[in-house]
Amino acid sequence: MARVMAAPAAASRAPASLEIVVDGVSKAFGAMPALVDVSVRVGAGEFLSLIGPSGCGKTTLLKAIAGLQPVDRGRILVGPREVRGPGPECSMVFQDFALLPWSTVQRNVEFGLLLRGVAAAERAAVAGRAIAKVGLDGFEQAYPAQLSGGMQQRVGLARALAVRPQILLMDEPFASIDEQTRRLFQDDLLALWSEERATVVFVTHSMEEAVYLSDRVVVLSPRPGRVHRVLDVPLPRPREASDVRASVGFTRLVDELWKILRKLQ
Ligand SMILES: Nc1ncnc2c1ncn2[C@@H]1O[C@H](COP(=O)(O)OP(=O)(O)OP(=O)(O)O)[C@@H](O)[C@H]1O
Ligand SMILES: [Mg+2]
Repeated sequence: MARVMAAPAAASRAPASLEIVVDGVSKAFGAMPALVDVSVRVGAGEFLSLIGPSGCGKTTLLKAIAGLQPVDRGRILVGPREVRGPGPECSMVFQDFALLPWSTVQRNVEFGLLLRGVAAAERAAVAGRAIAKVGLDGFEQAYPAQLSGGMQQRVGLARALAVRPQILLMDEPFASIDEQTRRLFQDDLLALWSEERATVVFVTHSMEEAVYLSDRVVVLSPRPGRVHRVLDVPLPRPREASDVRASVGFTRLVDELWKILRKLQ
């Protein structure tokens, strides 16, 4: 498969990254609290992972940052802007792909560019490059239902990356991808991130993935989600170039994360 995402998808210069401040956020669905008094600050250009049991509110928190989910209490800032709805800074890779089933791969990837008012010819070119980078060339005219889960996830990834966002919100983006491809994607994501310096919030169920990718890992408690622990990951970068996975430091951190999560269950 093609190595992906190493070069910027659009011609413009990488935009400056933005800080995210989540300040005392609570959210309930009916009588059921999903998030309780969550405060997290993600530094500009930081790579932060969220991990926690199913149903603890990870997707809810990501959607709130993206402006897709209003919160009941607290506030969220993206750079200087208080989030009250979707903004141009954020791009999200959805857990369920959220592809438009009636549109081709090409149109799905162009969608975010269309919303940002990019002209047709540039849209087509940028989307074409993003599709090639995630290894889907030849599938431009296919419909989502004709693709495997992993391929659909790559379309979601291409769509999010095509707009070169300042903030990249990723909800288990590699969950449906096989282990070998997943490692390639992780490395490519790190390479891209070090080039573009987007601020990343990355949701995963994989402890290894969280430690490998992140500057910090936020552990949420079981439903309703609260910030349970924040784990620093002081492993050297670039990680994709060195043998970080084989290092004692890496193993120790994964083990520490496992102990934290085991106690939570
Ligand atoms: N639109 C909604 N309407 C009602 N309840 C919801 C809605 N979205 C989420 N919930 C509830 O909020 C809680 C948190 O859901 P969320 O999807 O954020 O969890 P999660 O941590 O992403 O879980 P998973 O790891 O399984 O993806 C769950 O109890 C879920 O049932
Ligand atoms: Mg989720």
